[in-house]
Amino acid sequence: MGALRVAFIGTGKKPEKASAMGYGMAQMHAMAYQALKGEVEIVACADIVRENALAFAEMYGVPAKSAYTDYREMLAKEPKFDIVSICTWPHLHAPMTIACAEAKAGAVYCEKPMAYSFGDAKKMHQTCVMNGTKLHFNHQRRFGKPYRMARKLIDDGVIGKLERVEFTCGDIYDYGTHSVDLSNYLNGEQSAKWVIAQIDYREEKLIFGAHCENQALVQWEYQNGVLGLGSTGAGAKHVAAHNKAIGSNGVIELGSHDPAAKEKPVLRYRTWGMKDWEYVDTQGEHLHGPGYIDRAIADLVACLKRGESSELGSAQALRATEIIFAAYHSSRIHGRVDLPLVIEGHPLVAMVEEGLLKPHKKPAS
Ligand SMILES: NC(=O)c1ccc[n+]([C@@H]2O[C@H](COP(=O)([O-])OP(=O)(O)OC[C@H]3O[C@@H](n4cnc5c(N)ncnc54)[C@H](O)[C@@H]3O)[C@@H](O)[C@H]2O)c1
Repeated sequence: MGALRVAFIGTGKKPEKASAMGYGMAQMHAMAYQALKGEVEIVACADIVRENALAFAEMYGVPAKSAYTDYREMLAKEPKFDIVSICTWPHLHAPMTIACAEAKAGAVYCEKPMAYSFGDAKKMHQTCVMNGTKLHFNHQRRFGKPYRMARKLIDDGVIGKLERVEFTCGDIYDYGTHSVDLSNYLNGEQSAKWVIAQIDYREEKLIFGAHCENQALVQWEYQNGVLGLGSTGAGAKHVAAHNKAIGSNGVIELGSHDPAAKEKPVLRYRTWGMKDWEYVDTQGEHLHGPGYIDRAIADLVACLKRGESSELGSAQALRATEIIFAAYHSSRIHGRVDLPLVIEGHPLVAMVEEGLLKPHKKPAS
């Protein structure tokens, strides 16, 4: 098999112009592809801002004629792509992914969160399945040593039988998509049975153009009986770690918030018989990297070459997305949501549009 043909939709600004809500994730993807010399070739790109597309093309050796401002034109004019990396904001993920599937792209590697409504997330997955496009999402943290080591501790039975996974972060949608995905990963890719949640949204919080709650408390139960607990915003301290796994014989903490802990440990565990925590050497890797996207993309390419999806495939992403939208739906209906989730929209957005939630806009600074 020759080099896989890679295209980009949403190249980000020129690196020197990056801003707070413009990480230019395309640069991270592109560097990961570039590291796979000879296995992949970046052959085309599209960004609605011509300057962005041209700068990206120059940096990554894409001919100027293959730098587009209209991604649909790129999909129509260029020969079929093996991979399309989509690095735009969440509301654009669904139409762009669906267009790639209809153009018979071999695979899509889309940024998180999956979509801006549960209906869009399901449609992306289904359209890709129907067209033979292997859809993936950049939940790259799974590829970090701390998370892999935590999963191995669980699999080796170090904390006994897994009973609960927990997370804490700023919100359940933008950052929370990683947190829920990691919870699912630690529990061996189980689906949830039900979700119950309450949220607060008093001050407008738009992340990459998407409404995100100010505070949430989420509980769920997996098919295997393991319980999930997520706490965001002002209540984040209720879960004293970025991710936690509690078993019948002990506890594992990733990114402990314990003020007494030495040197902000990345990974530590304690069984009920131990006097103190065991601090695990994560070999220079912390909760966010380095190298996680490189590793995720290298694994994607290796899997595609074998004709397989990677573990970042849309079936996994959909499991996390279902819990997230079910949490917002639970808050909307004031009750427990039994899965599978049958709604199509985005309940948080619906509550804002219906005037049930009236978040204050922050004064412009
Ligand atoms: N995986 C992670 O850890 C992680 C971290 C940060 C951001 N993200 C996600 O990455 C995504 C992109 O964020 P970013 O900060 O890289 O964005 P960005 O603003 O840096 O880049 C988005 C680009 O999309 C382009 N664009 C907008 N509309 C378009 C259209 N119709 N056609 C083509 N291009 C278009 C913009 O011009 C811009 O260049 C978001 O979904 C965000 O949540 C993921």
